[in-house]
Amino acid sequence: MIKSLRGMNDILDENEYKRFTYFLHVATNTAKKYGFHYIETPLLEETALFKRSVGESSDIVGKEMYQFIDKGENDVCLRPEGTAGVVRAFIQKKLDKAGGIHRFFYAGPMFRYERPQKGRLREFHQFGVESFGLASVYEDAAMIMMVSDILKELGIGYRLQLNSLGDSNCMPQYRESLVSFIQSVEEDICEDCKRRKETNPIRVLDCKNEKCQSLYATAPKLINALCAGCQSDFDKLKKILNNNNISYEIDTNLVRGLDYYSKTAFEFVSDNIGSQSAIAGGGRYDRLVEFLDGRPTPAVGFAMGIERLLELINMPQESREGYYFGAMDDEAVDIIVSLTHKKRATNKAICDYKAKNLKNHLKGADKMHAKYCCIIGTNEMADNTIWVKDLQNKTESIIKMDEF
Ligand code: HAM
Repeated sequence: MIKSLRGMNDILDENEYKRFTYFLHVATNTAKKYGFHYIETPLLEETALFKRSVGESSDIVGKEMYQFIDKGENDVCLRPEGTAGVVRAFIQKKLDKAGGIHRFFYAGPMFRYERPQKGRLREFHQFGVESFGLASVYEDAAMIMMVSDILKELGIGYRLQLNSLGDSNCMPQYRESLVSFIQSVEEDICEDCKRRKETNPIRVLDCKNEKCQSLYATAPKLINALCAGCQSDFDKLKKILNNNNISYEIDTNLVRGLDYYSKTAFEFVSDNIGSQSAIAGGGRYDRLVEFLDGRPTPAVGFAMGIERLLELINMPQESREGYYFGAMDDEAVDIIVSLTHKKRATNKAICDYKAKNLKNHLKGADKMHAKYCCIIGTNEMADNTIWVKDLQNKTESIIKMDEF
């Protein structure tokens, strides 16, 4: 038997499918309220796009890409995240040259060759948004508010972790002081951190190795070395969040696993889903458009991991909806097929093509959560009527066909 690949799941279970579509409904509506428009980009892109954006030193590009040479000898890979493709599309469409504000949202599968475990898949789905053209920290706050709104509507509790990664004024100096610190403990750190010291030193700060973590407790903190501009933006962001009752924790080790961030970085975590606790992450990436050969354009965004959220969603009470049609005689099947077709113009309507007794039809109507169970048998055919049960109010009636 052929099975799905490791870390790649079907969404087949009705309960899971309902949660998935409900999440998309809530997230999409919220993004629209914030003035965002739908964008769709290809699943397959040139590998160079991710090397230049997510960064060669990141685990995603270094170890986790589904990368191959296609039949035309092009080096391509399945997208490991959504931001790079949206930025590529933004530049390709010359929106960077047009200027102004451009806000997009997207949802779809992402692929990372990670070690699968609970909450960590090789094909997973993200809902994300990207905002271009605004350097204002109010837009950073709007991103955080949007995630918070979505989670609140879904009944999901969270902790928000916040950090500032500085910019090209303060980051280089900080990096130097961090590298000197790392050199002072280099003998005792893990091999990954030794490599990170050469490629992207700040990534050592979120090393999962306990020994490394205890060594880094006394490492210099970027938050204490921000330049005046980054410091004032960070203070302003905290103030906006306070004003809007969004609580947060400052996490000076939050560096994010992708290289394109500057200034604001944030992660939403849940304490109820085990070790893979990050349910959303994002931040500002003011240099990325320029890195990908576009005109310098400030940008900020986030993405949420849909699979990690599914079991946390508090589903609304499902109300009965629509019509179920059934025939009790073979001759009545044609009639109910036509009635179903007509009702579908304005309502959800399903019919059973097989003649069955009333009990079985009522079961079928209940299973599809219909509001009305509408049945035609020999009596109804003779009288030109239809028997209707309102399954919500538990009332029954016989209705003349021209009044139905
Ligand atoms: P990210 O933190 O790599 O950010 O991913 C965002 C979310 O995707 C995570 O918080 C997590 O919920 C989910 N996720 C990541 N990897 C997996 C996995 N292997 N299995 C299941 N869920 C996963 C980004 O991707 C950035 N593009 C976000 C962004 C948008 N930044 C600015 N704009």
